[in-house]
Amino acid sequence: MSDQNSPEETAPYGSGPAAADPASAPVKRIRTHHLREMKERGERFAMLTAYDMYTAQTFDEAGIEVLLVGDSASNNVFGNETSLPVTVDELLPLTRAVTRSVKRALVIADLPFGSYQASPEQAFHTAVRFMKEANAHCVKLEGGIEMVPQIELLTRGGIPVMAHIGFTPQSEHNLGGYRVQGRGDAATRIIDDAKAVEAAGAFAVVMEMVPGDIAAQITKELHIPTIGIGAGNHCDGQVLVWQDAFGLRNAKMARFVKQYADVHGVLLEAAKAYRDDVHSGVFPGPEHTF
Ligand code: KIV
Repeated sequence: MSDQNSPEETAPYGSGPAAADPASAPVKRIRTHHLREMKERGERFAMLTAYDMYTAQTFDEAGIEVLLVGDSASNNVFGNETSLPVTVDELLPLTRAVTRSVKRALVIADLPFGSYQASPEQAFHTAVRFMKEANAHCVKLEGGIEMVPQIELLTRGGIPVMAHIGFTPQSEHNLGGYRVQGRGDAATRIIDDAKAVEAAGAFAVVMEMVPGDIAAQITKELHIPTIGIGAGNHCDGQVLVWQDAFGLRNAKMARFVKQYADVHGVLLEAAKAYRDDVHSGVFPGPEHTF
């Protein structure tokens, strides 16, 4: 049953004594308006990618407010070199797994390359698939001013949209590779993009690889929350790809990544120990045998 009329639902998320430890707060679904209210109160929120049940459950339990089923699944799940090849049909089941597994986090479906750029109608059709077939709570798309018609149509149709500006990986060939966007004179374009997506109805905006001072200025000037990835410490929220942040990906990380764990190392040692036990006949022991 919907909790729409409950008093908790009308109270802004994070208010009250439980706010100090969101992970132990009573379970209440995070909505887009909660993020905006957090911004208004000067509270920050955390966002991570998730692509399956166990990570979604774990990050939800940890109190991560927003989970993104990113098109970065292309590189981090499907083994592609870039985010470009991943398809709607590949992302739908991942999104469904994540939305089924969380109690509290806001789940965002990333619209993959080629599934929304052609027209607002194409964007609407794709977004509806994520909402209906995977129960996504909202969608994310890459682009600024050029995405205004798409954002307007989706929000008019009841689909909350998170925009993504600055470095947009789906356009890496157009942008000349992974590079900071908005340096020098190009700052005006990023600021205009941010204002345009807000005016079009986006409920939040990701800024990727944008100089910290520009991101800070945008965060100050917008009413909607900003989420940084390589955009400094003044955004309202931060997002990282979990395989980077927790060290499952065993490679050189971008400068903006802070590594919190060495999951690759833990898995590697566990896999080697298992291999050795099987090779030597130690596993399975009597305690594992019927
Ligand atoms: O797909 C993704 O992981 C993203 C983040 C980098 C924001 O878009």
